[in-house]
Amino acid sequence: MVVVRTARASDADAVLSLTAQLGYDVERSGLQARLGSTLAKPDHVVLIAEDAGHAIAWLHASVWEYLEADRFVVVVGLVVDKTRRRQGIGRMLMAHAEEWARARRCSIVRLWSSVERATAHEFYERLGYSRIKTQYAFAKSVDADRDDDLTRFVPRLDAETL
Ligand SMILES: CC(C)(COP(=O)(O)OP(=O)(O)OC[C@H]1O[C@@H](n2cnc3c(N)ncnc32)[C@H](O)[C@@H]1OP(=O)(O)O)[C@@H](O)C(=O)NCCC(=O)NCCS
Repeated sequence: MVVVRTARASDADAVLSLTAQLGYDVERSGLQARLGSTLAKPDHVVLIAEDAGHAIAWLHASVWEYLEADRFVVVVGLVVDKTRRRQGIGRMLMAHAEEWARARRCSIVRLWSSVERATAHEFYERLGYSRIKTQYAFAKSVDADRDDDLTRFVPRLDAETL
């Protein structure tokens, strides 16, 4: 039976391999550190879907606040193991994230998704999400020695990750 729970530091390895399926090849030590610091933040939640003790999906959400808008929840990342898709697991995680948003008195859940992720777009629309606008993403490296860091924000999207 699939259950949803909040993440623990010991989920780092499972989160790492699922993150690769999202198209990001991250280093274990960095991910482990970021998972630890994220788990300590009250305005963030990392949810794990687990089946028989195995983590098969994760969702990260956080509360954001803009000057021009009331607090809202952003689904920062979501991935379901490729062998377990179309089994209602993504839907289950999103329902928990929406409940988490309501509990924080946020009336809106929003997210951004690369144009190539057509499957994910169908999924979000099926769950009642609307395409509210189309945007370009801009970024600049301000450390000449670390220009490569920019590429970390660009997922590898191919048959493995879509
Ligand atoms: C997008 C993703 C999270 C969906 O998770 P999932 O567990 O497979 O989705 P669910 O089984 O809960 O699907 C719920 C509904 O969404 C729709 N849906 C899901 N996958 C779909 C697909 N490939 N094509 C069309 N509709 C789809 C269906 O209506 C589905 O209901 P149904 O199976 O009863 O028809 C998963 O495919 C995934 O991890 N993709 C790769 C990573 C990714 O794109 N993440 C999002 C980044 S923005």
